[in-house]
Amino acid sequence: MLASVGSAAAGAAARWDPAACSTSGRAPPPQAPRPRRRAAPPPRASRADDSGHPVFSISVNGARLSLGRGASRREVLRGVDLQVQRGSLHMLLGPNGCGKSTLLRVLGGLLPLDGGGVDADGPSGFVFQNPDHQVVMPTVAADVAFGLGRYRLPEAQVASAVERALALVNMSEFMHRATHTLSGGQRQRVAIAGALAEEPRVLLLDELTTFLDVEDQFGVLRAVRDVTRSGARGRGVTAVWVTHRFEELEYADAASYMEGGRIVFTGSPEQLRQRLKAMGATL
Ligand SMILES: Nc1ncnc2c1ncn2[C@@H]1O[C@H](COP(=O)(O)OP(=O)(O)OP(=O)(O)O)[C@@H](O)[C@H]1O
Ligand SMILES: [Mg+2]
Repeated sequence: MLASVGSAAAGAAARWDPAACSTSGRAPPPQAPRPRRRAAPPPRASRADDSGHPVFSISVNGARLSLGRGASRREVLRGVDLQVQRGSLHMLLGPNGCGKSTLLRVLGGLLPLDGGGVDADGPSGFVFQNPDHQVVMPTVAADVAFGLGRYRLPEAQVASAVERALALVNMSEFMHRATHTLSGGQRQRVAIAGALAEEPRVLLLDELTTFLDVEDQFGVLRAVRDVTRSGARGRGVTAVWVTHRFEELEYADAASYMEGGRIVFTGSPEQLRQRLKAMGATL
């Protein structure tokens, strides 16, 4: 397991909202259908360690962003600082509306900032909460290949990319299955494979386990952890995993807590657990 990422904690006063987070997930707010996963471009370099391997896959400094129009416009990101070690599974927690999904969209290059900077590996692949909005093709193989369609690759190349991606999430044996026969967790793993088929350097994963039972929840978590560990040193896929479920922290290499548009804590999963306990959470 990677060491924890250095502290980016600002000393903001901790305010605990037990209704916003729990050990067993939460009822999702009503929302519009999620967009299908998509890759975002620009590959950019980060700082390197002594042996030349870049250390951080993601580096965010003082990121500021306002959203909305007119009187409803408000500052959603209010000076976010975050560094994510390459090849790690980094979890991001925090109350509803604190800016987690907005930050993911910034990391994926989907939203430009008003101020501050983001330096992130690319391309990145998104996977969202509801597998029903993302797994849309009749068979697993067709679904994983879906995003590759725009590259007009030879059939054999697509087939091998699909095989490779399904193997990474331990779903090879399901390649020819009809997607409607899969469990929610299996469909989430297919959605992850679809993102992986495009060979992203960063996976941005927004509350993937909200609708899953415990078995599927940990199956998906293990798949993501294994993906981050499958790369050579300094070259692995980095995953940023947004969750409200504290029990998932045991799979994290590092974790951050967000509040009011800022990252107020970054450290090891155990350090975050201690902090959450101090804030009154039942863990
Ligand atoms: N396009 C938008 N226009 C105006 N406000 C927005 C827009 N998108 C998000 N917001 C607001 O920004 C804040 C942060 O939203 P965001 O979805 O990033 O929070 P979150 O931490 O992911 O919450 P949740 O845990 O409920 O998913 C919320 O108050 C939200 O209403
Ligand atoms: Mg969100």
